[in-house]
Amino acid sequence: METWNLPTFKTEEELETYMSEPTARVVEEFREHPGDLAILGIGGKIGITLGMMAARARDAAGTQSRILGVSRFSDKAARARLEQAGVECLTCDLLDRNAVERLPDAPRVVFMAGRKFGTSGSEETTWAMNTVVPAYVAERYRSSRIVAFSTGCVYDFVTPYSGGSAESDPPRPVGDYAQSALGRERVFQHFAVAEGTRVCILRLNYAIDPRYGVLHDIARKVASGEPVDLSVENFNCIWQGDVLERTLLSFRLAASPAFVLNLTGPETASVRRTAAEFGRLLGKEPVFRGSGEGGRAYLNDAGLSFRLFGYPRVPLAEMIRMQADWIASGGASLGKPTHFETTDGTY
Ligand SMILES: NC(=O)c1ccc[n+]([C@@H]2O[C@H](COP(=O)([O-])OP(=O)(O)OC[C@H]3O[C@@H](n4cnc5c(N)ncnc54)[C@H](OP(=O)(O)O)[C@@H]3O)[C@@H](O)[C@H]2O)c1
Repeated sequence: METWNLPTFKTEEELETYMSEPTARVVEEFREHPGDLAILGIGGKIGITLGMMAARARDAAGTQSRILGVSRFSDKAARARLEQAGVECLTCDLLDRNAVERLPDAPRVVFMAGRKFGTSGSEETTWAMNTVVPAYVAERYRSSRIVAFSTGCVYDFVTPYSGGSAESDPPRPVGDYAQSALGRERVFQHFAVAEGTRVCILRLNYAIDPRYGVLHDIARKVASGEPVDLSVENFNCIWQGDVLERTLLSFRLAASPAFVLNLTGPETASVRRTAAEFGRLLGKEPVFRGSGEGGRAYLNDAGLSFRLFGYPRVPLAEMIRMQADWIASGGASLGKPTHFETTDGTY
């Protein structure tokens, strides 16, 4: 397996171009399966680069597949970037059942719409988004293969000594967001059994893009002299380019009953040590506050994904270096903190 050293990104365009470059095996996947692909909830942090990678893989495979990007497109610039990349964008509120019914057919569907932040105080909207919308989508695309994003938050908090939660561990979601995310899984699992829909559920733990994510949040705090919260002392993460690749390769895993896969990197990262490394790279002394209760955190064992796809290409130390460079050179931030330090499931 090739390990990547990331280049120094000077612009967001350079970053997205690099991140969305399809690997040979993704191009091969598109050659073997030249049908249309719909990405539902494409307008967010992962979807835009996923759409770009899919369009580039389609072009490199020399097929005519349509790459359909479905979102409300609250961010108009995102739509323009996707269209320029060769993604056909369709505006749709997925909470509108009739609009979902009218979406074009596609033999392959990635479902990535969801709601986390803002749950506290409007829990019902989060439940609707995370459980009702999956029902509309699973019904509409019952004959398709569906890769559905979920989260490592469906598990309980565990200590690093546990080795991380594995797919065979029973989910124990804490709080409305995590509970409704498990609801999303259960709805897709229901359709996989009742309708024979082939489904793969990806329990992702923290994608890394220098514009957002756990590393971004820690690095920005160190750079600005704000205290780094140690309520959660450890985390797992994975380079977003690896997430995109694994997502597009996961259609082959879609099955009835649904196949569940943890998606994260191999390292158990320490918040304290990561902050210290950012301090060294940025020439700042990190400040800390709080302390974890027994070292419990959302930690996932993604060993099965490594067996299926190999290890992710980008090691943690390389992501840390790249993140420090991005912050030091004034790189953009999406302004969307992960709140990874949250321990009570309230978002
Ligand atoms: N990023 C991570 O590290 C991470 C970690 C764990 C799990 N996940 C899961 O992975 C999935 C994708 O992550 P992400 O970070 O890209 O999420 P995200 O930034 O929240 O993107 C999801 C997008 O879905 C669209 N959407 C929301 N409601 C919609 C609606 N009613 N109709 C149509 N589109 C709607 C939104 O775009 P518009 O405003 O354009 O509609 C939103 O930006 C999520 O389901 C999340 O739970 C992500």
